[in-house]
Amino acid sequence: MIPFAYHNPTRLLFGKGTLEHLQTQIPLYGSNVLLVYGGGSIKRNGLYDQVMAQLDKLGVKVHEVSGVEPNPRLTTVQRGIDVCKQEGIDFILAVGGGSVIDCVKAIAIGAKFEGNVWDIITRKASADQALPFGTVLTLAATGSEMNSGSVITNWETKEKYGWGSPLVFPRFSILDPQYTFTVPKDQTVYGMVDIMSHVFEQYFHQSGQSPVQDGFCETILRTVIETAPKLIDQLDHYEYRETILYSGTMALNGILAMGTRGDWATHNIEHAVSAVHDIPHGGGLAILFPHWMRHVMDTDLSRFVQLAVRVFGVNPDNRSDREVALEGIKALRSFWTSIGAPSRLSDYGIGEESIELMTDKAMVNGPFGNFKKLQREDVVQIYRDSL
Ligand code: NZQ
Ligand code: ZN
Repeated sequence: MIPFAYHNPTRLLFGKGTLEHLQTQIPLYGSNVLLVYGGGSIKRNGLYDQVMAQLDKLGVKVHEVSGVEPNPRLTTVQRGIDVCKQEGIDFILAVGGGSVIDCVKAIAIGAKFEGNVWDIITRKASADQALPFGTVLTLAATGSEMNSGSVITNWETKEKYGWGSPLVFPRFSILDPQYTFTVPKDQTVYGMVDIMSHVFEQYFHQSGQSPVQDGFCETILRTVIETAPKLIDQLDHYEYRETILYSGTMALNGILAMGTRGDWATHNIEHAVSAVHDIPHGGGLAILFPHWMRHVMDTDLSRFVQLAVRVFGVNPDNRSDREVALEGIKALRSFWTSIGAPSRLSDYGIGEESIELMTDKAMVNGPFGNFKKLQREDVVQIYRDSL
């Protein structure tokens, strides 16, 4: 392990009926509220009405910004910042998936910043304050509900970047598994792929021994693998939704990263794909991750052997480490295919002609990845293998 500090200030309110906590939480922060949501799923499933009833009861003033895109765009962030500044907003409530929450993080910091928020996202500028915000999560995937990261797309320049600040931890996040019942099958699958990918990004490290974190990671992976097929057969099953929702938060709230430095190369490679082609993040990860694994596994086969044996139940007897590792990666691909995740970039109509541009986007900050540093030719190879 390497030295670390851990602090997570987000109040997590998990379980049936937790929406009621809005009554005690919002008055702690403000009374002129900006409600931010996506393309309308919360209107169709009734959550919007329930949130509005809570806000009515509180007697707070409510403004709205809706239409946050999956892969949220800078233009929408700017729209939110303008409302905050014009209306003197003092608290923001995000109701939606990771995209809505990420958008709100950028609005919250942009609302208190005099310059261009894109400079914060591209790390050219830093801020010293942000509006407080809370979330009501509707999709298990990103972990954004309990972390300080956000990913924003500048569609005009085809750039998609992750950024973060301790100022943008949600003050509270409400997670009621019932609000995830209506997530369609494809988004449910992308979410589970994203959760597993967050675990992989942290599992593959070069930070020495980490037996406790390894156990946490493996437990989450085994749990998602066991639950996923049952959940996609019964999308409104409370316990399955609960398990996946909790897994998503635990996969990326910093706990798995204590004492280790994760890799995160595959996320960078995927963000470049969705910057150029606007595909779902989890769909891109499902295509790319097994190829990244094959590309880097010889750096430290022991991690891949451990994953294969402990998570995918591969029998190591009478086989080389390499064979065991490859068997594990094959099992991962088969599992993702079995639940309906895509396996080739061509599934999204992406071909050889995009590789140059996607590689430029991925390489913008130079070589990356902590398990293995990827150079330009590595990235090109991983994209080629994924076509
Ligand atoms: O927009 P609406 O109408 O709400 O529909 C959404 C959207 O179309 C729908 N949906 C969400 N909850 C629903 C629902 N439909 C029915 N019932 C519900 N309860 O699902 C679609 C996808 O939503 P989105 O928020 O885009 O998905 P997700 O949570 O996977 O977020 C993806 C974004 O998060 C970024 C990704 O890059 C991508 O931009 N990430 C953020 C991270 C973070 N902040 O820590 C880490 C991740 O690795 C990731 O990169
Ligand atoms: Zn992710």
